[in-house]
Amino acid sequence: MIKNCLFPVAGYGTRFLPATKAMPKEMLPLVNKPLVQYGVEEAQEAGMDNFGFVTGRGKRAIADHFDISYELEHQIQGSGKEAMLSDIRGLIENNTFSFTRQHHMKGLGHAILSGKPLVGDNPFAVLLADDLCVGDAPGNGVLKQMSELYNQFRCSIVAIQEVPADQTHKYGVIAGESMKDGLYRITDMVEKPAPEDAPSNLAIIGRYILTPDIFDIIEQTPPGKNGEVQITDALMTQAKKGCVLAYKFKGQRFDCGSVDGFVKATNYVYENVYTPD
Ligand code: G1P
Repeated sequence: MIKNCLFPVAGYGTRFLPATKAMPKEMLPLVNKPLVQYGVEEAQEAGMDNFGFVTGRGKRAIADHFDISYELEHQIQGSGKEAMLSDIRGLIENNTFSFTRQHHMKGLGHAILSGKPLVGDNPFAVLLADDLCVGDAPGNGVLKQMSELYNQFRCSIVAIQEVPADQTHKYGVIAGESMKDGLYRITDMVEKPAPEDAPSNLAIIGRYILTPDIFDIIEQTPPGKNGEVQITDALMTQAKKGCVLAYKFKGQRFDCGSVDGFVKATNYVYENVYTPD
């Protein structure tokens, strides 16, 4: 069973300036909860309890969020407001949160490699908190679905969704042989291709399960697209050596790294998830 989840959270979030000038983009709230907390809750639902954050400068608010806030908690003790902290308190009490810094922004592959000391020699999930994912039924989040597949196949898995041809340049795009409904064995993968170079319209979104041999592969992976060490390139090497699966998840995904997706996610949460205390 997978117990570890890595959160690469070193990115700048320039699309949301000036909001992200002094605040990490992962702390932007969907109604009353920061993006990163939705991610942690999804990972916990999948049975994970060891959460590693690959952070950078200016990201201390994330570490503070997953820690006790004595003054505040003392202040609201005994009032109705205490209940508003019960979820986050439960997360803090029942899980381990650890942090390391990515000193240079050299791509997602490099960020994941920087997180190696936090997950050790174990299979682990990677969750990009920019993507809000909602499963098709309560308790069946996207990482849970992927974790169950991992238990069956024991190899790396990426979550995919169909995107319009004019969007392929934003994603890693795969080609694969269909194994069963919604599950592919990857035969090709290209990072952010122009539509004419895309091997399909199946784009990788921000959920991965990786086997720990990926770390050695990343170390051997030269910089690719945009001069960055790409996890897509490392996964392609892994796919050639053995097997990497792509899974068309059941549910919805909101790209909260874009203003449009962020607004849609906010409305979704307000209408379907948020319960006022
Ligand atoms: C990264 C990956 C890309 C993937 C995307 C999902 O890109 O490099 O393959 O499709 O995440 O969100 P980024 O969005 O960090 O540029």
